[in-house]
Amino acid sequence: MKPLNIGLIGYGFMGRTHSNGYKRVNDFFPELEHRPVLKAVCGRNAESVQAFADQWQYESIETDWRKLIGRDDIDAVDICTPNNSHAEIAIAAAQAGKMILCEKPLALNPAEGEKMIEAVEKAGVVNTVWYNYRRVPAVTMAKQLVDQGRLGRIFHYRANFLQDWTISEDVPQGGAALWRLDVAAAGSGVTGDLLAHCIDTAIWLNGSITNVSAMTETFVKERMHTETGKMEPVGIDDACAFLCRFENGSLGLFESTRYARGHKALYTFEINGEKGSLRWDLHDLHRLEWFDHADEGRLRGWRSIHVTDGEHPYMDKWWVPGLQIGYEHTFVHQVADFLKGIESGQKVHPTFRDAQETQRVCDAVLTSASEKSWQTV
Ligand SMILES: NC(=O)c1ccc[n+]([C@@H]2O[C@H](COP(=O)([O-])OP(=O)(O)OC[C@H]3O[C@@H](n4cnc5c(N)ncnc54)[C@H](O)[C@@H]3O)[C@@H](O)[C@H]2O)c1
Repeated sequence: MKPLNIGLIGYGFMGRTHSNGYKRVNDFFPELEHRPVLKAVCGRNAESVQAFADQWQYESIETDWRKLIGRDDIDAVDICTPNNSHAEIAIAAAQAGKMILCEKPLALNPAEGEKMIEAVEKAGVVNTVWYNYRRVPAVTMAKQLVDQGRLGRIFHYRANFLQDWTISEDVPQGGAALWRLDVAAAGSGVTGDLLAHCIDTAIWLNGSITNVSAMTETFVKERMHTETGKMEPVGIDDACAFLCRFENGSLGLFESTRYARGHKALYTFEINGEKGSLRWDLHDLHRLEWFDHADEGRLRGWRSIHVTDGEHPYMDKWWVPGLQIGYEHTFVHQVADFLKGIESGQKVHPTFRDAQETQRVCDAVLTSASEKSWQTV
């Protein structure tokens, strides 16, 4: 097997999910010709990054990402840092000729995204963005059903991503995980963090979004900043809702908030077509709800498909029918597809260019909310 030396930058939540993906992929996808090697992990604090390296069995550490990118023994750079560092790291990695796996959202804004695309395409390096929900088997199956035309003409697309963890005014902004509340590090609030996932899936399933009309709100206007120790204005959107039109003529409705008491990560989407409808819910991620108008009238109704059979996407790699997999497996699938892409010479979607379409929609949503007007994407 050919080794593929991974250099991971950032070892928080995503650093763990990706490391797990690299470690497990060959056990479950034995046909792959490449084997990811956990060559180096980078973080700013030597002691903490060494502890992570020991726990996950990385061979070495770096405390400066530029050094990691400069190493000859790194083939692929995996960017798991906050959003405000994606562009700088990705552009440097492309210039060093490395393959790049970048966390979402691609960048802080479309201008940065454009420079990243230019850098990877000029260098001709393999690139992908971790919009991992595409690789939940039930979501991949939704894509198959739509592509087979089984919903017919599509009328409506609706998605939500609801959480409740920032309701308290005592939650600070800045620092590990809480950089999400600091607009300088995150670029935006729920729009780039949560709706970006909904938008990526929507574009994948239902095609381009052409126009948007949005509203946003920041419920808590000031929060203590972890780095300065002072109360500072909050610049992110705490909640966002938008209407949109898709290129195929269908209408979209999206909502995201971190103020929906009781909901932890309720990502749901529903598509209504002429011939049928489908619905998915992250809290029950192995099920796809499906309504087929072609069913015999008296038996017609929503069915709940347990997407765990060998015929279902990715599921022949795992256990026996009826036994489900979970969130972490989406990252194993993305690593497998990345390696297959290298082996076949095919692009690994979403590429930076694909992810830029989501970035443009996010930008149009934020502009629409601030200008109180419809925006063309
Ligand atoms: N695909 C998904 O479902 C998903 C889920 C969560 C987060 N994300 C994305 O992943 C990225 C990271 O999010 P997270 O939740 O892992 O955050 P986190 O706060 O848990 O981890 C961030 C890591 O980056 C490190 N870091 C920050 N600045 C650095 C620098 N200059 N050099 C080296 N390391 C640095 C931090 O020390 C930390 O280890 C973000 O872009 C986020 O949007 C994606």
